[in-house]
Amino acid sequence: MTQDVRAYAESQRATFERFLRELVEIPTVSADPARKEDIRRCAETAVRLIQSLGGQASLWPTSGNPIVFGRLERGPDYPGLAFYNHLDVQPADEPEWESDPFRLRIEDGRYIGRGATDDKGPAVTCLLAAKYAYDRGLPLNFYFIWELEEEIGSPNFEEGLRAHRSEVRVRSVFVSDSIWISRDRPSVDYGLRGLQGATLYLRTADVDAHSGVTGGAAPNPIAELCRILMACLDPVTGEVRIPHFYDDVVPPTEEELDNFVASGFDVERFRKTYGFRWLRTEDPRELLKRIWAWPTFEVHGIAGGYQGPGIKTVIPHWAEAKVSMRLVPNQVPEKVFQLLADYVRQLNPLVEVRPHGSLAPYIGEFKGPHADALRRAVRRALGVEPAFIREGGSIGAVLTMKKLLDVPILMMGLSLPEHGYHAPNEYFDWDQARRGIEIFNYYFEELVQLYR
Ligand code: BES
Ligand code: MN
Ligand code: MN
Repeated sequence: MTQDVRAYAESQRATFERFLRELVEIPTVSADPARKEDIRRCAETAVRLIQSLGGQASLWPTSGNPIVFGRLERGPDYPGLAFYNHLDVQPADEPEWESDPFRLRIEDGRYIGRGATDDKGPAVTCLLAAKYAYDRGLPLNFYFIWELEEEIGSPNFEEGLRAHRSEVRVRSVFVSDSIWISRDRPSVDYGLRGLQGATLYLRTADVDAHSGVTGGAAPNPIAELCRILMACLDPVTGEVRIPHFYDDVVPPTEEELDNFVASGFDVERFRKTYGFRWLRTEDPRELLKRIWAWPTFEVHGIAGGYQGPGIKTVIPHWAEAKVSMRLVPNQVPEKVFQLLADYVRQLNPLVEVRPHGSLAPYIGEFKGPHADALRRAVRRALGVEPAFIREGGSIGAVLTMKKLLDVPILMMGLSLPEHGYHAPNEYFDWDQARRGIEIFNYYFEELVQLYR
């Protein structure tokens, strides 16, 4: 059987590339309203791809983008497994792209293009893995839930799933939208951070003024916003200074931290992968706690003032900062937003604080029969144990599925740190797709035993 799965995976390489090309070449940037039509076209393309494998597929409408729902069903009485992936992507406006981000470039088994690794490549991998299981008669039903608004915080996922949840007859959900520790160290994730975004906007005059004529007396909105931001954050340590921000934080247990440290994570490799000139901490235990199990406050962008050539000696009349806070159990996004808004108002009541979408943190179990099944499947395919870790990123749909479907959710991505999530020249690779097809098939075999 082991040989068969491997041979099958190899035989599917051309199909994998064809499917991935079709999906990557549609610019499904969910943050860009001008891409609405492209997103619909991608959803319809996905339906067609699933149907071309003999599956059934349709679109669930929502107030936003539709959700693709696909099925490879053996029969009504078989246990079901649902896959969650997303087909929307981040913007690809970085000048460092070496080729058109919305043309799939294939080079030495690498698939370069926006969304190749997050999350179109893993989506196609899950589909082909299930197709093989279906063709060889494994007694399981497979369902595919492909979202098109994940990268904007899944604002309509609950609406879509709520209306159709009775069609998702499953015993568990599998989410493939995260990253391994390294190429030879797969990870299974049992936690995600939440997120609360905000825009801080300050207007100090009606127009810009001459900085020689007014400077010294005039308020400077950029400097004032910087003061406020640094009152919220210690930029050296990363500590959040908003009063009561940490009140609801449940720290990771020592057992979890032990697992984090044992995961094979390497601090210097991490630094190099992202090209950071320095890190706020180099202690592995502390670093892993901070990226996987501790909240943060980040400044994503500051706007205002003069950005053209040379220097223009003005006092700007407005400034804006986009920020977000990653959250961990048991922080509540709305409550944290209120803490920020109250604190900023106290510092300067003229600063407007507007909320962006919010996502609650998620924590599942890292023990139990599904986790054991996945551990055995990984060991059989790769000969190594997966690390059980939490992830620092956020996937809004996970919480919603937990709430509405109420079944175990297993998370195992196929992406690697060097694939460059959200970065220019993002890529996926055939090795990871092939290994995914293999691991997932062994996992299905374990589930057949488990659901017997
Ligand atoms: N796949 C990521 C989430 C992720 C990142 C999981 C790293 C595990 C490790 C997802 O596509 C993502 O980028 N989510 C956004 C959500 C946000 C825009 C609401 C995130 O985490 O920033
Ligand atoms: Mn993703
Ligand atoms: Mn993403």
